[in-house]
Amino acid sequence: SPGTSSPLLSSPAAELAVAVIGAGAMGSGIAQVAAQAGHPVHLVDSQPGAAEKALETMGATLDRLVGKGRLERADADATLARITPMTTGDMSTVPPSGLVVEAVVEHLDVKRQIFRQLEQTQSPAAVLATNTSSLPIDGITDEATTGHDAALHGGRSPHMATRGRVVGLHFFNPPPVMRLVEVVAGTHSDPRVVDDAAGLMRRWGKVPVRCTSTPGFIVNRVARPFYGEAQRMVQEGLVDPATVDLTLRRAGFRMGPMELTDLIGQDVNLAVGESVWHQTGEDPRYAPTDYQRGLVRERRLGRKTGHGVFRYDDSGTALDA
Ligand code: NAI
Repeated sequence: SPGTSSPLLSSPAAELAVAVIGAGAMGSGIAQVAAQAGHPVHLVDSQPGAAEKALETMGATLDRLVGKGRLERADADATLARITPMTTGDMSTVPPSGLVVEAVVEHLDVKRQIFRQLEQTQSPAAVLATNTSSLPIDGITDEATTGHDAALHGGRSPHMATRGRVVGLHFFNPPPVMRLVEVVAGTHSDPRVVDDAAGLMRRWGKVPVRCTSTPGFIVNRVARPFYGEAQRMVQEGLVDPATVDLTLRRAGFRMGPMELTDLIGQDVNLAVGESVWHQTGEDPRYAPTDYQRGLVRERRLGRKTGHGVFRYDDSGTALDA
């Protein structure tokens, strides 16, 4: 459409290439959503075999949906065929894309490095999105752009343009099921890019909600005390985890805080908690708990390791909740 500054809405889905960086729980789900919407997708992970494994798991999930009559076989096959797995930690080898969605670990330094490389190698028109749960959108690029742009543009400073194409696209777990996407604008994000990103999410069948880049955005800011207070009650021996969840569910919550952190991943949830806590000057409202640190130390990471607060079988069904 006239005035659109990004490629997100100006071309049909088949012509907008999407790259998803990180093939964990979130990246593989986001890749599936993008492929279902008709985009050719590269799913990239630095861990050998991770992207292939993600595609296998996705194939099994889609097969189950076909088996239940909730998805056509042809659609399942077409979705899988649109996704190309790729193993690399070097972002300069990621093929040219109209949209890149980064979904690697919640560590600022790792994300910064990725954005630095993407900014240097992707076309200036490409929109660069992060699925971060809590990190500041500005912080992911501020430093990254400086040296590169100065060198490329003979000392002129097109930082606004470069940082303008960076936005947060915060999906929820699991991305193919959860419709909410927090669309996060950094201080420098071009408003038209943010509009287009929200528009693209609508095309993907999602419900975008605009947020500014404050620690934890909306959901993780409000939910931190929900997880933390439940963990503190368990830690203090006031209640057991199954009772907390059952009680909160009976109070109308879709999931209890303990099972929800098992779904998210205790390691991921702790990293997000620490990030929000540090960014708020270690506000005690967001302090991570010894209980959760203990789970992570013991590699009780939740459904993905078969054991977190609760135990799970291979299909992810809780055995003792
Ligand atoms: P995960 O741990 O399941 O997956 C991360 C993947 O990134 C791994 O496969 C890892 O090998 C890969 N990776 C790490 N460094 C890389 C690099 N430099 N280049 C390429 N690949 C790299 O994590 P998960 O749960 O998928 O989370 C990813 C991001 O999404 C985090 O920022 C997290 O905060 C955010 N998020 C997580 C949610 C959740 O419920 N788990 C919900 C919404 C956002």
